[in-house]
Amino acid sequence: MARILITSGPTREFLDPVRYLTNASSGRMGQAVAAAAIDAGHSVVVVSGPVAVEYPAAAEVIHVVSTAEMLDACRTALPSCDGVIGVAAPCDFTPVTVQQQKIRKTRAPLQLELRETPDILATLAAERRAGQWVVGFALETDDQRRSALSKLRQKQCDLIVLNGPTAIGADESAVEILDPAGQLVATLSGPKIEVARGILRAIEHWLLTIV
Ligand code: C5P
Repeated sequence: MARILITSGPTREFLDPVRYLTNASSGRMGQAVAAAAIDAGHSVVVVSGPVAVEYPAAAEVIHVVSTAEMLDACRTALPSCDGVIGVAAPCDFTPVTVQQQKIRKTRAPLQLELRETPDILATLAAERRAGQWVVGFALETDDQRRSALSKLRQKQCDLIVLNGPTAIGADESAVEILDPAGQLVATLSGPKIEVARGILRAIEHWLLTIV
């Protein structure tokens, strides 16, 4: 059985003490993947941004807020894990400067200068030791398979789970799983817990046998 690191939920990037950038990720797919992994007998570490969902009691859960904190927590957890599943939707941009006081209205347009946050999966994939595997998610609206495959290659993932924007916050999901050669290794649809069980079966079949 494997020890699996799962990233889940959104992150927040604060602009000032009360305002932040984020996205609509609910953490429900991360919750479902954690539950499916535990049900399959694996041990699970979830690194989660702020979410309303509860993770399975058997999961070790590390709560973080920002993308940088999510990366730090994952880097600490990865050495004790066999692989990572990146279900999170980390915020891709962060303000260049965080205002110490609440930004005041001036009636003039407000300019925000943003820089990109680190890509957690790409960083973990580059730093992993031999035998550790990385599975990414790709939420694509157009040219889906090609975009997902290019993400798999950029982030050096072993498999990528492709889904559409209707999955956000929904009970159900429909996904395709692609390997680095662009082969479709699974097509799954239904309640997120069923889709998560299928993702775990694909990981067990394609990745756990080779480590
Ligand atoms: O590039 P994009 O955000 O579409 O890629 C999605 C995949 O990359 C997901 O597996 C997500 O968890 C991961 N990701 C990440 N760090 C980021 C952005 C995305 O690990 N900063």
